[in-house]
Amino acid sequence: MASLFDGLPSVVRLIDAGAGAGALTLALVRRACMPGSGVESIHATAYELDPLIIPVLQETMEACKSLCRARGIPFTSSVYQTDFIEEMAGKLSGDLFSTAPPSFNVAIANPPYKKINTHSPERLALRRVGLETSNLYTGFVGLLARLLEDNGQLVAITPRSFCNGPYFQPFRESFLELMALQRLHVFDSREAAFRGDSVLQENIIFHATKGRKQPPLVTVSSSSGEAEATVTAKDFPFAEIVHPNDPERFIHIPADSGHARARDRLSELPATLASLGVTVSTGRVVDFRLKDALRPAPAPGTVPLLYPCHFNGGTVHWPKLDARKPNAILDNEETRPWLVPSGIYLLTKRFTSKEERRRLVACLLDPSHVEAEWLGFENHLNYFHASGKGLERTLALGLFVYLNSTLVDHYFRCFSGHTQVNATDLRKLAYPDRATLEAMGKALPRPDISQEELDQLVELHLHGF
Ligand SMILES: C[S@@+](CC[C@H](N)C(=O)[O-])C[C@H]1O[C@@H](n2cnc3c(N)ncnc32)[C@H](O)[C@@H]1O
Repeated sequence: MASLFDGLPSVVRLIDAGAGAGALTLALVRRACMPGSGVESIHATAYELDPLIIPVLQETMEACKSLCRARGIPFTSSVYQTDFIEEMAGKLSGDLFSTAPPSFNVAIANPPYKKINTHSPERLALRRVGLETSNLYTGFVGLLARLLEDNGQLVAITPRSFCNGPYFQPFRESFLELMALQRLHVFDSREAAFRGDSVLQENIIFHATKGRKQPPLVTVSSSSGEAEATVTAKDFPFAEIVHPNDPERFIHIPADSGHARARDRLSELPATLASLGVTVSTGRVVDFRLKDALRPAPAPGTVPLLYPCHFNGGTVHWPKLDARKPNAILDNEETRPWLVPSGIYLLTKRFTSKEERRRLVACLLDPSHVEAEWLGFENHLNYFHASGKGLERTLALGLFVYLNSTLVDHYFRCFSGHTQVNATDLRKLAYPDRATLEAMGKALPRPDISQEELDQLVELHLHGF
């Protein structure tokens, strides 16, 4: 992270917010002490709430001082055991009891992440400086962007979630207004970077500079996340990362050329779900709300209830009596509004586990496998339907092929850092036209074909696009 800064200023005024033991400050100081860095003095400011780690942080500051002394660079530091959000939001909002905010020209951060709800003190403090955000980490980054002087640089490691999703839109807008994005670094593996902490977040490192126009090119790099792993990097036009006319200001991260290619190909596809006459909805049975109506096994008066655990090799295998989930739901006046009439549906998992090869897992429900007049779809899955009824078979098969393709998987990985696939994401996706989908559907020999065969099928039929 320290290596990502462009040239450092000769007088470094550094802030490390949520400093922990000061590892990032130390890394930056090491970089500043390298021959030819041009750094003449450093003042480091660290904020850290945890009293237990403060002594270690103090020691790190002493180590920084010794390093700098050996290079003839004056080093001073201030360590505050204070809430960074409360303190800086107070200063930036001109709070009566606060002094003017300090300004910095270098910021480095691995901020804490935690959801902050609408009425929490953090949320209210951030709102006072015009920062509307639902997570501590975006609060930290937003404040750092405001505390930097013009041309000041920020390098931070955070979850990737701010890059998309409606909750982070106000954050993205204000961040991209203040800061020019120069570099994004992603990790190929979700586990590597934070293995020790058992955190399964997708993380990103970014470098941005205050007050400049967005650069024509942004460098996007990736590495496995293991120490010393090779880093591959490629430049992308800024307009490909944040599309010029996108009101939501999504930050697209083409992690490798496969992803960039997927995005290009999907942008050529002509259809939307709506134009195909297809709708996608989230399964309507919220099991804990209908607890009394659930049954472990089919019985008279019940209909099948389908969960993601019933997906198997591309089709639905029901009932699954050894599963922990119920297999059936009573069909009565109370439950009927949450049921759908039997038919051919395409089901997708909303959440995939990290072992799963693809982000999007689509499964075909054929009424000949699950015989019933009505069906319940549980809330952890999405279902594709035609105005509440089943789909035409060839269209359903075509959607099955397309949604299970590596192409769509790459698109999802580039587009979305989270492992959730919401109905909205599926609605926004571009689709081949009906004729192409039907041709793919007709050509599918059976649902459990290999990934390679399925991808070949897609390539063959998308050739014109
Ligand atoms: C993800 S850790 C990063 C530690 C360190 N920067 C590193 O990279 O090793 C975030 C740190 O922020 C601290 N922290 C959490 N909330 C804080 C707040 N409101 N103000 C200051 N520090 C806070 C935590 O105690 C924790 O040490």
